[in-house]
Amino acid sequence: MTSDASGGGDPQTGDLSGPDLARGVPVSSIGDGAMLAGHAHGQAVLLARRGDEFFAIGATCTHWGAPLADGLLVGDTVRCPWHHACFNLRTGEALRAPALDPLSRWSVELRDGVVHVGARLDGVAPAPLSSHPALPASVVIVGGGAAGNAAAEMLRRLAYAGRITLLSADASVPCDRPMLSKGFLSGAEPAERVPLRSPAFYKRLGIELKLGARVATIDPARRHVELIDGTRHPYDALLLATGAEPVRLEVPGAALPHVHYLRSSTDAHALVAAAQKATRAVVIGTSFIGLEVAAALRARNVAVDVVAPEAVPMAKILGEQAGSFIRALHERHGVTFHLGASAISIDDRWVTLKDETRLRADLVVVGIGVRPATALAEQAALALDRGIVVDQYLETSVKGIFAAGDIARWPDAHTGERIRVEHWVVAERQGQTAARNILGAREAFDAVPFFWTDQYDFSLAYVGHAEKWDVAQLDGQLNADTQDCTITYRRGDATLAVAVVHRDRQGLEAEVAFERAT
Ligand SMILES: Cc1cc2nc3c(=O)[nH]c(=O)nc-3n(C[C@H](O)[C@H](O)[C@H](O)COP(=O)(O)OP(=O)(O)OC[C@H]3O[C@@H](n4cnc5c(N)ncnc54)[C@H](O)[C@@H]3O)c2cc1C
Ligand code: FES
Repeated sequence: MTSDASGGGDPQTGDLSGPDLARGVPVSSIGDGAMLAGHAHGQAVLLARRGDEFFAIGATCTHWGAPLADGLLVGDTVRCPWHHACFNLRTGEALRAPALDPLSRWSVELRDGVVHVGARLDGVAPAPLSSHPALPASVVIVGGGAAGNAAAEMLRRLAYAGRITLLSADASVPCDRPMLSKGFLSGAEPAERVPLRSPAFYKRLGIELKLGARVATIDPARRHVELIDGTRHPYDALLLATGAEPVRLEVPGAALPHVHYLRSSTDAHALVAAAQKATRAVVIGTSFIGLEVAAALRARNVAVDVVAPEAVPMAKILGEQAGSFIRALHERHGVTFHLGASAISIDDRWVTLKDETRLRADLVVVGIGVRPATALAEQAALALDRGIVVDQYLETSVKGIFAAGDIARWPDAHTGERIRVEHWVVAERQGQTAARNILGAREAFDAVPFFWTDQYDFSLAYVGHAEKWDVAQLDGQLNADTQDCTITYRRGDATLAVAVVHRDRQGLEAEVAFERAT
């Protein structure tokens, strides 16, 4: 189901197990700082307590539906266990992506030592930022992905009434990219779950969404962008959110029609159509996308060979132990690895490796990494450093031009280093921060980087940023029988990042610890 609420609360009824909170539960059944999942008036409701205050909000995360009772209460917020969205307990507002819609909320009454959930309350609009004196009359956003969409929505959420134009080179509305290589490719999720919003949503919010609209140039002096068809869009404030582009394989045969890349919704639909007819696939690259694609193709019973130059998949990012586990995990599902190997040519039936091994393939998927799409920034002479350089407010070297998402290299509040990451949640949160700053908030982007991957029944969540680390210390078990561990990445005395496997609360606690350390 496409989530299409613009402030209407969580779309699911959810799991109606647990106590009937409308009939009431004893105050003593919920301790200070605790949460209780139950139901009221036919809806799944989460009752949370802070001191003497009680809050009743929707029990199911509005992103992918996680049970919030498994999350963490932090101050006046609840954090989602799966991908760390953050909701305000008092208002239900989705404070931090990846959730974009608020939770429903209900009144709470205390009578004779019993807490009752009462009537459903209206949503609370966030305080508008739109009274700033230097408010731009129009905002143009280049890029209809995670950052661009989140920014456009945030501008309207903050009651910005000016013109918003969202220009996207994609052929379809902004989509849930992480789902493309997971549920959508495996067949577990229907095509209707792929778009983030419907076209009607943008219309209703007065966001002019232009699809197939590739920007060719920016003119910072005259403050307009020009599309490849010559159409011009003037702006007062500009957000660049052009994301990243897959690195292309350069071997003979790489342009054949059965060789696929996966970035856009169009790519994903083409890949699903090919997978439905394929019996043997070769995946080139052990990137997250490559490995998620391998898992999804196995769910469709396609035989999969994976080819990559490294000795242990993912070892550079996650460490040898986790990398070896991931290899064994895929092998248990029937994947064959060809490591220390590279493809030198492709024809319509075979992929040939450097050692002359030939792998039969009626489908080839290339997942060898991405590059930030900085061509426009280069043309506009913005400061670049393996991405677009932005300050803590996500503003580029040219005043009034902001950048967010995979293209932005920002001063990370946690490590003090300038970093650029390719994570969905970071891109959305940067889009949201950029929107606030376009409206004059001067809010530093200080979110702790977060990403996740799902392969078969294995899920890993990663908090922090460790480009280089000395030690990856695994606490717990990560083997065929048990997937329950925390991996801590350290350089010297510093903890740079923490990965958790099926330990959601520890992942949230690590995030809070990083926040408090900053
Ligand atoms: C298949 C897949 C699975 C993923 N899974 C995960 C995951 O599980 N967890 C995770 O953390 N991250 C994941 N990622 C990464 C995540 O999706 C990206 O980090 C995120 O989408 C980056 O957001 P963005 O807004 O910077 O760029 P994008 O979402 O890529 O959006 C960029 C937009 O800019 C547009 N554009 C580019 N150039 C122009 C131009 N000149 N004119 C107009 N428009 C232009 C593009 O058409 C696109 O609409 C995944 C990525 C893919 C592709
Ligand atoms: S399900 Fe809650 S953040 Fe994803």
